[in-house]
Amino acid sequence: MLAAVFSLAIVICVVTSTPPAIQAAGNGTADADRGEQLFDRRCTGCHALDADKVGPRLRNVYGRKAGTVPTFKYSDAMKAAKFTWDDASLEKWLTDTDSVIHGNDMDFRVPKPDERADIIRFLKVSSGN
Ligand code: HEC
Repeated sequence: MLAAVFSLAIVICVVTSTPPAIQAAGNGTADADRGEQLFDRRCTGCHALDADKVGPRLRNVYGRKAGTVPTFKYSDAMKAAKFTWDDASLEKWLTDTDSVIHGNDMDFRVPKPDERADIIRFLKVSSGN
């Protein structure tokens, strides 16, 4: 009897425990929740979604023309930019901002490809895409 209760308890534990993290272990799937955590840790020193700080507000940046938040004082280099932010340009920007706009004012990089992908996914989702 005791053994039966005990093994039932084990079954319940196994069934209710959280499944193994399926998307972990670098299978290349971008994740907006991870991106939000990374955004909070890496970007919010200079950016917020809905307010200008050292950098411009970033809500709706995905699909927005570069350098066009009217309330933010961009560098001249950034003001002269003529492209729209998408996966490819954000990927390059977070790898090395100077490779996109030489002489811009954002002195920051995200070296890890999976972290860049997560952050870009988050920017996309927070822009309603
Ligand atoms: C040390 C401060 C700093 C950090 C940290 C930083 N940025 Fe920036 N960012 C800036 C500044 C300043 C600009 C404006 C550059 C200019 O005017 O040349 C900018 C501009 C941008 C732009 C272009 C916005 C537009 O309106 O065209 C994007 C996109 C961006 N940052 C994304 C990020 C992301 C994502 C992170 C975190 C991974 C990040 N930044 C971290 C300072 C920072």
